[in-house]
Amino acid sequence: MKVTVIGPGAMGCLFAARLAKSGVDTTLVDHRIDRASRLNSKGITVESGDGTITESVRVVSSVPTGQDLVIVLVKSHVTKLLTLNSRAPVLTLQNGLGNIETLCSSVGSSVLLAGVTTEASTLLEEGRVRHAARGITRLGSWTSCPAGPALKVLEKAGFAVEQTDSPGQAVWEKVAINAGINPITALLNVENGRILEIPEARQLMRDLVVEAVKVACTEGYRFERSLVEVAEATCAETKTNVSSMLQDVRAGRRTEIDAISGEIVKRAQHSALPTPRTRVVWQLLKGIEQR
Ligand code: PAF
Repeated sequence: MKVTVIGPGAMGCLFAARLAKSGVDTTLVDHRIDRASRLNSKGITVESGDGTITESVRVVSSVPTGQDLVIVLVKSHVTKLLTLNSRAPVLTLQNGLGNIETLCSSVGSSVLLAGVTTEASTLLEEGRVRHAARGITRLGSWTSCPAGPALKVLEKAGFAVEQTDSPGQAVWEKVAINAGINPITALLNVENGRILEIPEARQLMRDLVVEAVKVACTEGYRFERSLVEVAEATCAETKTNVSSMLQDVRAGRRTEIDAISGEIVKRAQHSALPTPRTRVVWQLLKGIEQR
């Protein structure tokens, strides 16, 4: 099976290295030609509790033809810039809202698979990541694309996978958790676990998750478990993690705040639903991005 992973960030490097290690014909796409060439020669290194591996992965600057699966792991603001003319199934495992809609308009819904991953990966330097904690990758067909081959190849690469009939719901669940945790860690410059130890921050996280869930409900989603409890459990399970948003702020990169809190605010406006706390953290993060 030929698999292309788009995006040389923390998740893209992790997925590409693990797929290559399992014997899958893997290509990583990095739009920056200079970095692609460096990654090509030095390989991708993954540090984890099981040791450190360096995998040699083919790195190119555009999506090759003849692929059996394309996994999109670029930051959400880059999705609309991708050139995807492949007819292969396209799987998005990105954070945030709006990626599915953008990919539907570029490749069509019939080849689209969507999902989320709770693998915890930190980009230490170009082509080097720390796999801080194992997670679960949930994915399913957006409309009619069979999910079986993608599930199988990821499982073979050592990922814990689950099929879902409602990938939209899985994406919203992750967005609600991210909307609670990520802006607070980025604003306070703290690891995930600290949120639980600061009562005001913990309450703000709970309030942010509630606002996100209310907006998800206006889109027809209902959640069987309390996402506030899930967010608190996530902070505890990933207590030493530097959230992806804090990693971006520390590295001076653009964050995914627009696709998380920004999208929640935008969608809330369609139903005149107030989301005051989400709006404020979104505005503060936009301020940080531009300072
Ligand atoms: O974006 C992230 O960093 C992760 O989704 C999460 C769950 C906040 C853990 O760090």
